[in-house]
Amino acid sequence: MTEARGTGRVAVVTGGCRGIGRGIALRLAQDGMTVVAWDLADVVREHGDLEEVPVTGSLRVRAVDVGSAEQIAEGVEQVVAEHGSVDVLVNNAAISPKAEGARVPPHETSPDEWEQVVRVNLTGPFLACRAVIPHMQRRGWGRIVNMSSKAGRSGAMLAGLPYGVTKTGINGLTRTLAPHVAPMGITVNSIAPGRIRTPMAAGVSDEVNARLVAATPVGRFGEPEDIAALVSYLCRDEAGFLTGDTIDINGGAYMAP
Ligand SMILES: NC(=O)c1ccc[n+]([C@@H]2O[C@H](COP(=O)([O-])OP(=O)(O)OC[C@H]3O[C@@H](n4cnc5c(N)ncnc54)[C@H](O)[C@@H]3O)[C@@H](O)[C@H]2O)c1
Repeated sequence: MTEARGTGRVAVVTGGCRGIGRGIALRLAQDGMTVVAWDLADVVREHGDLEEVPVTGSLRVRAVDVGSAEQIAEGVEQVVAEHGSVDVLVNNAAISPKAEGARVPPHETSPDEWEQVVRVNLTGPFLACRAVIPHMQRRGWGRIVNMSSKAGRSGAMLAGLPYGVTKTGINGLTRTLAPHVAPMGITVNSIAPGRIRTPMAAGVSDEVNARLVAATPVGRFGEPEDIAALVSYLCRDEAGFLTGDTIDINGGAYMAP
């Protein structure tokens, strides 16, 4: 059904110009929301044409680096000034550094890499939650969706140590925050995707990716639209009883023989 379920809602999607974030931004805008997609300045320049895609609601892209506390605070202020509030936050942006297509062995991870991945993947989502919650509280309604990963559920064998740790942390942020904001009408959930076809997934060899598809009962990688459909559901009024959860979406990977 393509009814405009999100009409009147204002959504921020971090890392919204490429990959899964782009799929989510388009889907929520198609649901009728006013969507502001944040991404790095050079990516915004390259993918600014996203604003021209016809949607039911509206779609804007803005340069906001979620590794910067100042940019997150200014970014939220700008959305509130332009659109009145933030009703939906999708903490999607993340990085997964690789060295020549392979993860850096855990014990060789540099303190700098650790700090950078934690800043973008975990501190950024915390700061974004912190900035939007007062606005959601004011309206008595909000939806926060944090992008986790199968790597934060069953161990990160492909991604580096800090990536897996931050995705486990995202699940903890979700569980810990949810009960505090539930009385405000805000739900907080995370989504743990398996392999999804995006630029991030292209960072490893074809051979590794082929092995991963073979280990997925559904027999294909996920698409950004598969994740976007779940985000769309979580952002509806009717999803108000679902909070504090991490939802696996991985083509049945846990049931692989
Ligand atoms: N692709 C997969 O297989 C997969 C699997 C599990 C989880 N995920 C998660 O899904 C989310 C999206 O992944 P993806 O595959 O689309 O990744 P991607 O690398 O293809 O896209 C991520 C987007 O985030 C942006 N971004 C990176 N750092 C940023 C920053 N500091 N500030 C603002 N934007 C920034 C990038 O420019 C890019 O547009 C991530 O949280 C990732 O960990 C992906």
